[in-house]
Amino acid sequence: MEGGWPSRGGFLLCLTVSLLLQGTGDTFTINCSGFDQHGVDPATFQAVFDRKAFRPVTNLSLPTHVNISFTLSAILKVDIHRQLLTSFLWITMTWDNPFISWNPEECVGSHKVTVLAENLWLPDIFITESMDVDGAPSGLIAYVSSGGQIQYDRPVKVTSICNLDIFYFPFDQQNCTLTFRSFLYTVDSMLLGMAQELWMITDVSRNIIQTQGEWELLDIKKATPKMLVGRSLYDQIMFYVAIRRRPRLYVINLLVPSSFLMAIDTLSFFLPAESENRAPFKITLLLGYNVFLLMMNDLLPASGTPLISVYFALCLSLMVVSLLETILITYLLHLATTQPPPMPHWLHSLLLRCTSPRKCCPAAPQKGNTSLGLSPAHLPGVKEPVELVGKVPGPKEAELNGCPGSTRAQQEDKAQKQHLVSLWVQFSRVMDTLLFCLYLLFMATSITTVIILWNT
Ligand SMILES: *[C@@H]1O[C@H](CO)[C@@H](O)[C@H](O)[C@H]1NC(C)=O
Ligand SMILES: *[C@@H]1O[C@H](CO)[C@@H](O)[C@H](O)[C@H]1NC(C)=O
Ligand SMILES: *[C@@H]1O[C@H](CO)[C@@H](O)[C@H](O)[C@H]1NC(C)=O
Ligand SMILES: *[C@@H]1O[C@H](CO)[C@@H](O)[C@H](O)[C@H]1NC(C)=O
Repeated sequence: MEGGWPSRGGFLLCLTVSLLLQGTGDTFTINCSGFDQHGVDPATFQAVFDRKAFRPVTNLSLPTHVNISFTLSAILKVDIHRQLLTSFLWITMTWDNPFISWNPEECVGSHKVTVLAENLWLPDIFITESMDVDGAPSGLIAYVSSGGQIQYDRPVKVTSICNLDIFYFPFDQQNCTLTFRSFLYTVDSMLLGMAQELWMITDVSRNIIQTQGEWELLDIKKATPKMLVGRSLYDQIMFYVAIRRRPRLYVINLLVPSSFLMAIDTLSFFLPAESENRAPFKITLLLGYNVFLLMMNDLLPASGTPLISVYFALCLSLMVVSLLETILITYLLHLATTQPPPMPHWLHSLLLRCTSPRKCCPAAPQKGNTSLGLSPAHLPGVKEPVELVGKVPGPKEAELNGCPGSTRAQQEDKAQKQHLVSLWVQFSRVMDTLLFCLYLLFMATSITTVIILWNT
């Protein structure tokens, strides 16, 4: 037997050479008397294996047609900082080897055999965008069919460069390109085709990906422009992979808490301005918001300026502005109740107009309209005016009381001062309402803008 193999191999080689010269494809090149219940006799393929260093064609001016397809089985990582997409692909390539063919009827009915891929010539297809290809596992197998068609599958982890746009995070879509082309063979030697319809690739990938991860596969599109490098023209297939982030995690962890804090900040305007609680309450909220931002910083993209960062900055500044407003109103109230400066005439008339039944500011508080609705005990850190307001009643009452130390002039003076205090307090309230209106307006505009931007 052992002596038989080389001679048989030689015979096959002669047959191959004669086929080469004649250029006929119908003749079977594999003598499958080696296919039996013990498997395949290695000698039957020896002639093919010996030629693996060369592109398998009968006429070197004929190009090899390599059909490609892939399944996107996972999107492992999207690295915004380095603009890299790490994905896992199962790449399938099929091509014809004209030196392989056998008659399945003669060969115990087998249409396909598996061959260790390293024994065969393999096309040097690579992905041009890949920055770091994890070597495919060694010892991969290829299917060889009786018609000489070879199918070679290999899993590969591809880290490809991709132009990532983070602006719409977490509602962003990315469009990454995977370009398959031969490293060396120009169009004269290798032409690429599709081994599978595009919709099949998309469907299978989508079904596999949907079970995992943050990214959802939207669509795969294809283009086949040839590429000119120097004077060599290369065939290539470009796949545009569109993916979308599933935003739920970010909505729950970032947007919802932030909106709640904003809502509380807005509602805190309804705490009476005279109470001492409003400013500390707002400071606590501001602190809470900062802690929230610190904790959630890991969830945000490491680089770039997404819209969500702008949104957070906006919320923070709104909170700061509302705190400043509270400080201003507190100061005004304090001023009004300690040493009220004389009110300018224009301000007085404006105030009167604003608080008259036909108000210029619709949300101006009603209570401010009805004399001094201020309970002095509520005024913060004010001693003198409390006495002033609390102990000194109206002039008539004073007369009735028959207070001996207070002359009429003094009483009038005090009454005037009290009136001034009430005017200033009223003014503070109107200011508070007005600023609150402005705040609401600004917040509504900016948040609507952000939402509209997200939706486009
Ligand atoms: C195949 O090889 C066997 C011996 O191993 C030989 O008898 C047979 O004629 C060969 N068949 C062909 C088609 O060459
Ligand atoms: C190889 O193919 C080219 C172009 O198809 C043809 O001109 C040439 O004659 C072929 N050579 C042989 C040896 O068949
Ligand atoms: C490649 O695809 C083309 C067109 O679909 C088909 O005609 C050809 O037989 C395929 N070749 C291989 C080796 O699969
Ligand atoms: C991705 O980009 C390519 C090229 O710019 C374009 O042709 C394709 O339509 C884009 N895909 C999607 C889903 O936007």
